[in-house]
Amino acid sequence: MRIILASDHGGTRLKEELKGLLADLHMEFEDIGCTSDQSVDYPDYAEPVAKRVAKGEFDRGILICGTGIGMSIAANKVKGIRCAVVSDEYSARMSREHNNANVLALGERVVGGDLAKSIAQAWLTTEFAGDRHLRRVNKIAELERAEEL
Ligand code: RB5
Repeated sequence: MRIILASDHGGTRLKEELKGLLADLHMEFEDIGCTSDQSVDYPDYAEPVAKRVAKGEFDRGILICGTGIGMSIAANKVKGIRCAVVSDEYSARMSREHNNANVLALGERVVGGDLAKSIAQAWLTTEFAGDRHLRRVNKIAELERAEEL
């Protein structure tokens, strides 16, 4: 599985920890930044991750900011992206099994490193259940196609 990951300044430390997990799981990954605690704008990182996943260049994306919220809001503006901001393992599994989430958002200021790694591992190793959940996910795609409010 090919993973693209990014963070803003609020998520660089956790991103480094997650890269260790991805290496342990023998997953290919590309880290597109940021690399320091100098203040940056999270949409500038959410956009390329979301677009490169939506285009099929990567199988999944991981985004980290202080809370995970800004990254998830921005990523979900890109067609084809189902980004889940998650702080527990159960929701991580469900976001894959029921929602086929293709981007995971985490908050470095919300979850500790060990919990974040368990969340990411659960999310990376859980398959979409399909069936009735596919019908619902397809309805989300229909919403994206309907441009009028
Ligand atoms: C940056 O201070 C913070 O706002 C950002 O990392 C994130 O939490 C936004 O949702």
